[in-house]
Amino acid sequence: MDMSMRHTLLGLFLLASLFSGNAQVKYLFEKPTAILRPISYEIPLGGNVTLSCSVEDSDNWTILWYRGGSNDEPMTEYEGKKAINVSQSGVYSCRGRSDSGRLTYKSDYAIIKDTLPITAIITIQPKWTQIYMGETFTVRCEIPGGEGTYWSYDWRPKRFTTYYTTNERTFYNVGWEDNGNYQCRGNKGNSLTQWSNVIPVNISFTLRPVLTVSPSWLSPGASVNLSCEVEYPSEGWLFSWYKAVPYYKITEEPYTYELLPDGSKTAQSFYIINGQTSTAGYVCRVERGSNFYHKYYSDPKFVWSADVNSAASLTVGPVVQNFGYDSVKLTCKGNSPSWRVRKFPENRRPYCSNFWDSGESVCTIDTTYSDDGVYWCESMSKEFSNAVNITIQDFYSGPIMVIPDDPVKTGTFVSLSCKLRRKKIFPSVAFYHNNKLIQNDSREDLNFLAVSNSDEGSYKCQYSGKESPSRYMSVKSAAGPESSAFPVTARMKVVNAVAFILVMMLSMNQ
Ligand SMILES: *[C@@H]1O[C@H](CO)[C@@H](O)[C@H](O)[C@H]1NC(C)=O
Ligand SMILES: *[C@@H]1O[C@H](CO)[C@@H](O)[C@H](O)[C@H]1NC(C)=O
Ligand SMILES: *[C@@H]1O[C@H](CO)[C@@H](O)[C@H](O)[C@H]1NC(C)=O
Ligand SMILES: *[C@@H]1O[C@H](CO)[C@@H](O)[C@H](O)[C@H]1NC(C)=O
Ligand SMILES: *[C@@H]1O[C@H](CO)[C@@H](O)[C@H](O)[C@H]1NC(C)=O
Ligand SMILES: *[C@@H]1O[C@H](CO)[C@@H](O)[C@H](O)[C@H]1NC(C)=O
Ligand SMILES: *[C@@H]1O[C@H](CO)[C@@H](O)[C@H](O)[C@H]1NC(C)=O
Repeated sequence: MDMSMRHTLLGLFLLASLFSGNAQVKYLFEKPTAILRPISYEIPLGGNVTLSCSVEDSDNWTILWYRGGSNDEPMTEYEGKKAINVSQSGVYSCRGRSDSGRLTYKSDYAIIKDTLPITAIITIQPKWTQIYMGETFTVRCEIPGGEGTYWSYDWRPKRFTTYYTTNERTFYNVGWEDNGNYQCRGNKGNSLTQWSNVIPVNISFTLRPVLTVSPSWLSPGASVNLSCEVEYPSEGWLFSWYKAVPYYKITEEPYTYELLPDGSKTAQSFYIINGQTSTAGYVCRVERGSNFYHKYYSDPKFVWSADVNSAASLTVGPVVQNFGYDSVKLTCKGNSPSWRVRKFPENRRPYCSNFWDSGESVCTIDTTYSDDGVYWCESMSKEFSNAVNITIQDFYSGPIMVIPDDPVKTGTFVSLSCKLRRKKIFPSVAFYHNNKLIQNDSREDLNFLAVSNSDEGSYKCQYSGKESPSRYMSVKSAAGPESSAFPVTARMKVVNAVAFILVMMLSMNQ
């Protein structure tokens, strides 16, 4: 009998049973299956679970319950119950038996696990306060009193889908996916221990060791102390020490690193350099544990030398006066074809340091920016020049006349004053209007209760024998159109530019 014939026959019998209304006919050929729910369950400690068995038929079926293997006898105490409460672990199944003694297929097995009055203990190694990306850690599961028993282990977070028969899990080169609350439990037959304590693991993505170089400026015979700091210093760090070497591709990392003698994985967090005579840059690197995939470096730090040598030198000046601003030239010289100027702290605006200059490098600092800092040259042939601490200050050691930048309105109150650098000066300041002395007494300001057009003009002040540059105050009529405003403003700007002559004070630290 082939398949199609058999189906035809079955169809005929089903059809027949429909017409006859006799269920017995139908079940001669179609044996129902019992359905058991739930099919897996973990009974908490001291709890139970309700198992329900059903047969998809209107007929009266007597439910038989089984625990264990398929050949077991049904459990007589539960016979006829459609739902039972069990607290014992095991593999359960059920089936129906009709009054005439016919049996349904057995249900699927329900795997019911129970919980032992044992709580697992999870520990982590190493016991670091913070785990960083790339490090390695191991979690271990202990079952108190469970020695000598063959356990397998369940782990949380849930993403461990594999069945583990060892009580340790090691995570290498960790990243964000290893974050989580770690827990474990033992698993033996159909019995579980209770879940362990929780170990939260929160991996940090940044590890920025901070290098300190002291002193900042080289002095003859003195040693240089490099000191590398990490957040949790007592947790087994190893330190590696490098010299920064100018790298030709400035758009990428500006330096490559060369290991210092005996500078690999020292336990000490500092490194002493003797006999350093020229400007140099250093970085430190930290790691710990046996597997540390990501290497974390500090920012480069420098020790500066003020001594000029012929191989690489930085000279400063002259100051160039421009319209509205001044600039100062930095010149790199020596036996290298290409140079760049570096600065500490790093420039807010990248300019000189952003490219290599061929031949003698000339870099210009615009003194309208407060580009105070230590400057030095680096050559493509890996040399560092002397360094110069440049403080851009008012060139004029005398006073400066302080005048509103914008034209003042007639009839308004205006106060002009005389400043020395950033300090206000008083008393005995002499004020001049168009080179004519107009005030010389103990008053610190030159006040106009109501400014008039005749007050327009250039002003200067004199203090302790020194005269300020002249600055122009322009006045415009409060009501009228700004007819004369343009030429006056333009002129004022020229005057102001002259007045704000800035120059640099160079201090070469020894
Ligand atoms: C099942 O547990 C409930 C409480 O969760 C309890 O009231 C009931 O008696 C237990 N039944 C059995 C058969 O253990
Ligand atoms: C089902 O069983 C009940 C009582 O056990 C009985 O009254 C009823 O007739 C039976 N129904 C069928 C279809 O056998
Ligand atoms: C099972 O236990 C629940 C209480 O948790 C109770 O309501 C129910 O009647 C019990 N069922 C049986 C079949 O014992
Ligand atoms: C992990 O640490 C970071 C900062 O260290 C914090 O912002 C974040 O909330 C922490 N995550 C968890 C899951 O604790
Ligand atoms: C170097 O500096 C570190 C940190 O300040 C300090 O602990 C160490 O003693 C110094 N070493 C020497 C030789 O001065
Ligand atoms: C540069 O000089 C200024 C003024 O003398 C000083 O305050 C500053 O600390 C110096 N900077 C360095 C890095 O030596
Ligand atoms: C200002 O007055 C003082 C005395 O009151 C005098 O000594 C000084 O020479 C005067 N300055 C000028 C510029 O005239």
